[in-house]
Amino acid sequence: MSDNNNPLPLPSLPEWRNFVAATQQSAISFDRARIIDTPGLQLDISAQRHSPELTAAAQALLDARNFDAMRRHLLEGGIVNPSEKRAAWHSALRAAAPVGPINAERQRMNEFIRKADSERRWRNIVHIGIGGSDWGVRLAVGAFGYAGMWRQVRFVANIDGHAIEGGLAGLDLRDTLIVMASKSFTTAETLENGLRALERLRAAGVEDPYQHVVAITARPETARDWGIPASHVFRLWDWVGGRFSLWSSVSLTTALAINSDVVAGMLAGATAMDHHFANAPIEKNAPVQMALSGVVNRSVLGYGSLNIAPYDFRLAALVPYIQQLEMESLGKSVTLDGQPVGVPTGPAVWGMPGTDAQHTFFQWLHQGSDGAPVDFIVCQNADHQWRNHHESLLANCLAQREALLEGKSHSHAMMECLSAGMSHDEAEALALHRTHPGGRPSNLIVLPRLSPYALGSLLALYEHKIFVQGLIWGINPFDQWGVEYGKVLATGITRELNGDIPVDAAHDASTRHWIEQFRNDSAK
Ligand code: F6P
Repeated sequence: MSDNNNPLPLPSLPEWRNFVAATQQSAISFDRARIIDTPGLQLDISAQRHSPELTAAAQALLDARNFDAMRRHLLEGGIVNPSEKRAAWHSALRAAAPVGPINAERQRMNEFIRKADSERRWRNIVHIGIGGSDWGVRLAVGAFGYAGMWRQVRFVANIDGHAIEGGLAGLDLRDTLIVMASKSFTTAETLENGLRALERLRAAGVEDPYQHVVAITARPETARDWGIPASHVFRLWDWVGGRFSLWSSVSLTTALAINSDVVAGMLAGATAMDHHFANAPIEKNAPVQMALSGVVNRSVLGYGSLNIAPYDFRLAALVPYIQQLEMESLGKSVTLDGQPVGVPTGPAVWGMPGTDAQHTFFQWLHQGSDGAPVDFIVCQNADHQWRNHHESLLANCLAQREALLEGKSHSHAMMECLSAGMSHDEAEALALHRTHPGGRPSNLIVLPRLSPYALGSLLALYEHKIFVQGLIWGINPFDQWGVEYGKVLATGITRELNGDIPVDAAHDASTRHWIEQFRNDSAK
């Protein structure tokens, strides 16, 4: 038994060893009971390893990690991010009856939207933010604004000047609102892009450009010092991690771009998933079951990556959204008290919407030497009028999943070749290339249709899955010290490049070489 504040590395836990042994004796076999109904979606985990022994071992492992108490701690706003001494209480933002300050901020935001809509103001919105201050909004706007919006929305995240140049190009800046989303209000990309936007507003003759800027941040005073009027500053709180900030006023852009109902629907769907996570028994608990399969795939079977395959063109931004959520959370290799975890942790997450993905990298999934588990995500019903398109989309999704699971045996491939009229020798040679190993695990997530409620539920499903995996691995899924280090180095190198400070001799020789070259280049 481990103390959750000081989790023992997994290899030293007898419960882990039992879990590994049970996994090795388990198999993939269809069982209707392995399709879990949740509010907002169905999760089919029947294409993952399973056995009664594995179920029992999983329960023992969760108990050893004090799962019940830790889940309560998370959902009640306890400190679950000890390295930053913070809660990760994003679930409070979406509660049906949010506590005072959250509700007050929501009301302020709604009032801002109501006024803008009634005045038909802000034909253009330029949303400036990066990482968690960007992907969630891009996702929501992509999911629900695909068929057209009366406001034009552009997203600018990257420090690359082409991003802000393109983001502002061709807009009537007199009717453009700049939304700066930054929890810290220190992120170089966001502040620099914000400055460029202000310069362009001034150049376009806008009298008081700050009246065209809104900030969403956990540091309201910093945004005010930056010049943004207090009535345009919406706050979030320290206990909202950047990658979970979609549930805060960061969704102002979504509400302006589409409407407030989208935001409300997503909040409701996510809350419903919170309740499911808090109350459903382990075997029927979608985030927990997804987490357990993820641990099996990564730490026992050794799959190094997880593929996300949304069979819905509107969900293109889901891939980077989940990529950040998973990889910033689970890209850790020491336990809470700094010991090596002892097993492989968070997989690399990648993907693309199907069917594009089939014509890009699915070959690797089918017959490559490594393979990867796949999360197939699809809507039972489409929102367009072409039934045949949707049937084809559904068929492709099911077909890829089946091929990965069932594979194609050598004898099946032989039979195909022979019935195509090949000689026995030809068939024998080709059949080897047409054989698929199969046995590749996957999840199938089915949304009734792409409603805000279903999307909210889907995102909360992944959030809770990640929490459970972090708990099992004994790591902190809520910090991101690696990213912080990169930011510090980049700040120093920027100053070296612009000649503010001399090139630090402590850089490695190659980095020094390129700093010198780029410095000289920019002097030309
Ligand atoms: O990528 C690191 C990170 O800290 C993310 O967690 C965050 O979403 C992003 O940078 C942007 O940070 P901020 O919202 O403070 O500008």
